[in-house]
Amino acid sequence: MAGEPEPRHPKPAPTLPDVDWVSGLRMLVTGAAGAMGRGLVEEAVRQGASVAATGREPSLGAAELPSAAIRIAADLADPAACSSLPGRAADALGGLDVLINNAAVLVRRSFADLSLDELEQAWRVNLRAPVLLMQAARPHLEQSRAPAIVNVISTAAFNGGVDRVAPYAMSKAGLLAVTKSVAKEFGPLGIRVLSLSPPSMESQMRTHLSPEVNERVRTAALLGRMAEMREVALTTLFAASPYASFLTGSTVDVTGSIV
Ligand SMILES: NC(=O)c1ccc[n+]([C@@H]2O[C@H](COP(=O)([O-])OP(=O)(O)OC[C@H]3O[C@@H](n4cnc5c(N)ncnc54)[C@H](OP(=O)(O)O)[C@@H]3O)[C@@H](O)[C@H]2O)c1
Repeated sequence: MAGEPEPRHPKPAPTLPDVDWVSGLRMLVTGAAGAMGRGLVEEAVRQGASVAATGREPSLGAAELPSAAIRIAADLADPAACSSLPGRAADALGGLDVLINNAAVLVRRSFADLSLDELEQAWRVNLRAPVLLMQAARPHLEQSRAPAIVNVISTAAFNGGVDRVAPYAMSKAGLLAVTKSVAKEFGPLGIRVLSLSPPSMESQMRTHLSPEVNERVRTAALLGRMAEMREVALTTLFAASPYASFLTGSTVDVTGSIV
């Protein structure tokens, strides 16, 4: 009947094949104890990459990660920790080919009530940390035959966020912009730099959003289902891999929605 929403009978996710896009690459993944970070580390190790998985304690120690992943604890709110991290990872892995800036924090608060610390928290972890990590990673990536940086952003970078998350949206929009700036500067060095906008995923971060907003975000998916984590990890690792050798400066949109 006109005006009524059509019933949804989503197809399940397809069976995904084994691939080896990042085999042999040395990768640093931040936020490795989080939902997407764990998915990335698991898939990268499965494909034969050497992975430095970083996070802060106690989350990192408690995270279920493949035993082949090297855990490096670092609090990304600390600028010195950010600047030393790529070197620590390169020492542990024998070099560095790929940096995935995945860690982030989300504060939900009405704009009028935001404290200075809440405003700066997202900036410190979601924007300053990736910037310092990109700077510190550059000399190591210059030595790589397939260097790439993937900065994980959010639809909030484009639409301001779904639920009173201004500092998060600001930080992600900044990360989107600086990705393009760095892609221009690092391009002549052969280093690809891109951003990736992931879909809605169940995670610690999402528990900060209201149930109504969580439901709205879920139903925005065009395929009528949530993404499986491996689908997100595969797209991210493809973008980071030499198979995407001319992909730089752009945003890989794996949101599965139009926002
Ligand atoms: N989930 C979604 O629906 C969604 C949608 C769009 C974009 N994203 C983006 O996807 C990425 C992954 O998010 P997720 O869903 O996997 O969230 P998550 O499960 O909350 O993971 C975020 C990770 O970042 C870490 N982190 C936070 N502050 C840190 C700090 N100061 N130092 C080091 N690590 C820190 C967290 O560690 P602790 O456990 O110690 O806090 C956690 O492991 C983020 O960039 C996020 O913005 C997520």
